[in-house]
Amino acid sequence: MHGKDFVDSQPRTHPREVLEDAFRRFDRDRLAISFSGAEDVVLVDMASRIVGRDAPVFSLDTGRLHAETYRFLEAVRERYGIEIELLFPDAVEVERLVGAKGLFSFYRDGHGECCAIRKIQPLRRKLGELDAWITGQRQDQSVTRTELPVEQVDAAFSTPGRTVTKFNPLAHWSSEDVWAYIREYDVPYNPLHDHGMRSIGCEPCTRAIAAHQHEREGRWWWENDDDKECGLHAQNRIPAKAVA
Ligand code: ADX
Ligand code: SF4
Repeated sequence: MHGKDFVDSQPRTHPREVLEDAFRRFDRDRLAISFSGAEDVVLVDMASRIVGRDAPVFSLDTGRLHAETYRFLEAVRERYGIEIELLFPDAVEVERLVGAKGLFSFYRDGHGECCAIRKIQPLRRKLGELDAWITGQRQDQSVTRTELPVEQVDAAFSTPGRTVTKFNPLAHWSSEDVWAYIREYDVPYNPLHDHGMRSIGCEPCTRAIAAHQHEREGRWWWENDDDKECGLHAQNRIPAKAVA
């Protein structure tokens, strides 16, 4: 475990305890961390201290990630000795979209269609195999996340016959808490963070921001703040049903 305990800015359940609880309650093959290649790597670090190399991790490879993010995914895989399952979009769907609208249609008519094909469909497929998933979302990331609980029923991906539980262990941590952890435990991070990118997604939909700007201003900057959920976290648009 950690040599030094961690004090977060809003002392509540520590993310590590949320993860320990999740791994106690769900089988390892029915639960996984959804890793974006950004600063949510702290979840991988914490999980590897709990379950070692068995930490179950997947990432949605949209085909539009930065070269640095691909290299970072490999660095994390090597550092922790874990598998990172890469999930790809349906090739026919991608060909249909770019054939009809080109490679940058999201700048014209919004990111919904491209995100649905490149992120949501692969995620839905993966969640069909899982009972629970773990995300790196935080309340301070977006106006759509201010009420985010550490555990919730995922109303967007549950079906009448099957409940999908969603853990957000970092919900109450600030960006500063995350970066203090990264420094304290020498956790590897995406080098794009050193180039003004605070919130990192796909290359065409991410840009560097100035120090005074909110991190979300670096994502889908041509759209309204409350439209900046790509559907991975469509739950944030549904009235919250927190479990904890
Ligand atoms: S997004 O919906 O706007 O793209 P954001 O970048 O804030 O999400 O990341 C929030 C959390 O969603 C991440 O901590 C991670 O758990 C999950 N996530 C986002 N993008 C991906 C991805 N490409 N692959 C896997 N998980 C992701
Ligand atoms: Fe497409 Fe941009 Fe969404 Fe990535 S973030 S899937 S490039 S619209």
